Amino acid sequence: MARNDPVPSTVLVTGGAGFIGSHACVELLDHGYEVIVVDNYSNSAPQVLTRVERIAGRFVGAVYELDIRDRRALSAVFDRHDVDAVVHFAALKSVSDSLRRPVEYYDTNVGGTTALLRAMHEHGVHRLVFSSSCAVYGEAGPGPLDETTVPRPANPYAASKRLCEEVLADVCRRRPEYTVVCLRYFNPAGAHPSGLLGEDPRGTPDNLMPRLAQVAAGHQEFLRVFGDDYPTRDGTAIRDYLHVMDTVEAHRLALDHLTDAPGMHVYNLGLGRGSSVLEVLAAFSEAAGRTVPYAMAPRRPGDVAELVADATAVTRAWGWRPALTLADMCRDAWRFQRLNPRGYAGSDRRPKPKEC
Ligand SMILES: NC(=O)c1ccc[n+]([C@@H]2O[C@H](COP(=O)([O-])OP(=O)(O)OC[C@H]3O[C@@H](n4cnc5c(N)ncnc54)[C@H](O)[C@@H]3O)[C@@H](O)[C@H]2O)c1
Repeated sequence: MARNDPVPSTVLVTGGAGFIGSHACVELLDHGYEVIVVDNYSNSAPQVLTRVERIAGRFVGAVYELDIRDRRALSAVFDRHDVDAVVHFAALKSVSDSLRRPVEYYDTNVGGTTALLRAMHEHGVHRLVFSSSCAVYGEAGPGPLDETTVPRPANPYAASKRLCEEVLADVCRRRPEYTVVCLRYFNPAGAHPSGLLGEDPRGTPDNLMPRLAQVAAGHQEFLRVFGDDYPTRDGTAIRDYLHVMDTVEAHRLALDHLTDAPGMHVYNLGLGRGSSVLEVLAAFSEAAGRTVPYAMAPRRPGDVAELVADATAVTRAWGWRPALTLADMCRDAWRFQRLNPRGYAGSDRRPKPKEC
């Protein structure tokens, strides 16, 4: 690919109705990209996309309800649209669920990615931004981890993300027309400042911030803190939380820079500062103006003590720097919870999406 190729303009977003995907759609629409969404709504709802359009003041080009493993349906989307690049969010993402249903995770995350790659290949689309995770580092910490850290995935979810990375790296090695940016997120949290978009997973949330929001709102009695005997400053697990708005800005920058150099590029996305569960709990209580009750519980299988990013490589590459703090994440997550006490349920309906 030549350096002067135009910046991609039509972007297919898989998992575009999900937490990070929906915020990414707003960011891309705001910056002039045409957006096509595919999602099977296994962990989201179609009405999210109405809110995306309301915030952006623009329409999503087309929405398809499909499973990314459905090759024929996916191929039909590429037949209909002149896709320049893909941002691939669609995946299963719960560590604990992956321990119970490993095959489902390999099938959806790895099988879904190879199905997508095949459709892209058949339609001459070679630019991809891939959602990876700090989970691939596993027990590699403590201390800030840069991208040269040897991955040691500790559960099937993490292993499925690492397998995707290996497939993508190998495709890039063998086919010079491919450019793949693989973003290893640490812990995206928070919500859109409008309060219209946020994290509303189906069932009991696995991630800390939505669990805190539910307890603060009185939907659950107390927060279970999994593990108080980790070798950390207060015994609870440390993670590097990053505002979802900063997270999606990095995706837009990745797309802006996709034509810079072919091959696989791996970047960490994090603040570079870790917060323990008890520190996040204190910050959330402050934002919500109420004490969030909690109780200690045993460690969750598959969890690790500490994961903190060294994200200097992405700053060097594109000048990306997170602008928002943990307090901002808590404030925005709480605003979303207050304005949407039942999540997206019962909110504005989107017309039935097109099906392939
Ligand atoms: N949220 C985090 O803390 C975090 C951290 C690291 C990496 N990631 C990765 O980021 C990506 C997005 O995460 P998220 O938090 O927005 O999750 P999410 O569950 O909110 O979004 C994923 C979306 O993909 C859809 N989807 C799932 N399986 C599908 C399939 N087979 N076909 C079509 N659509 C499907 C879901 O319905 C959902 O809308 C995932 O790949 C996840 O592994 C997330």
